[in-house]
Amino acid sequence: MKVRKAVIPAAGFGTRMLPATKSIPKEMLPIVDKPAIHYIVEEAVASGIEDILIVTGRGKHALDDYFDYTPDLEQSLMRSNKSAELEKVRHTAEMANICYVRQKEIKGLGHAVWCAKSFVGDEPFAVLLGDDIMFGHTPVTKQLIDAAVKYHSSAVGAQEVSLEAITGYSSLKIESLEERVFKAVDVVEKPTPDKVFSQYAILGRYVLLPEIFDILENTPPGFGGEIQLTDGLGALCRSGSMVAVDFDARRYDTGNLHGYLETVIDFALRDPGVEPWLRQFLTDKVRGFLMSDYINNKHTHEHGDGCGCGHDH
Ligand code: G1P
Repeated sequence: MKVRKAVIPAAGFGTRMLPATKSIPKEMLPIVDKPAIHYIVEEAVASGIEDILIVTGRGKHALDDYFDYTPDLEQSLMRSNKSAELEKVRHTAEMANICYVRQKEIKGLGHAVWCAKSFVGDEPFAVLLGDDIMFGHTPVTKQLIDAAVKYHSSAVGAQEVSLEAITGYSSLKIESLEERVFKAVDVVEKPTPDKVFSQYAILGRYVLLPEIFDILENTPPGFGGEIQLTDGLGALCRSGSMVAVDFDARRYDTGNLHGYLETVIDFALRDPGVEPWLRQFLTDKVRGFLMSDYINNKHTHEHGDGCGCGHDH
């Protein structure tokens, strides 16, 4: 079994990042100097994927522009001898063979994946969600491909999350197969606390057998009135053909403001061109916070609460 194709659903509105995402696809928000989708495509390519389908929606032209050639810009960079910049710009257009399909109606992740049916044909394929950026040694998609090949089944990426967080994800019912690999017995999308199977959530990466398309075609709308990929996966679990891999990587959720800022700071700290400056900037900031905390505490200690001095204790 060889996994050559990947699908990146990128049709959502990005409502958690408004107003920025009013006119910029959330997948194009920069993580240091590259848009989020760049890291996703890089992971797919590093996992051996040759063909990628991005499922887009209305107003998402910036995505196809990003992976296209830019002759005017390239000529201008060439004329001004900016070879490093030229190299970066060309690289984005040559990273992978990328095509696009439009999800004409926002009908859920399951429907977005179903839109890839004719692109995928009768092959296993990977799905990478654009909000989830992974950082680790072996690409997470490659970790899933290895498990899917070994167990001749679909594979999903999972990690343990807190009880509060699991209600915003999906919860897996699992049985251990080997270290970090489980048989997935059932799964529920956005469970209420009483419906949680385990604290293992599916997090943004899937390798699926093409049988998922027939299942999705017959999957009724679920959570939020949308066709949920997780509901389709539930059918795969119950037929005994899905494993879950507790993947070895740090996952970043760039789809909300706190997660996005965390990702930008961590990736900047890993960039040798930015790290010395950012480290100094953050150190100065923290010193400033500690100093003002110290002064405030000292003031409260000396004057007591409500001393009427006009300062904010
Ligand atoms: C989606 C999936 C959910 C998964 C989550 C994190 O939810 O439907 O099963 O746990 O991504 O990857 P969303 O974040 O789109 O609400």
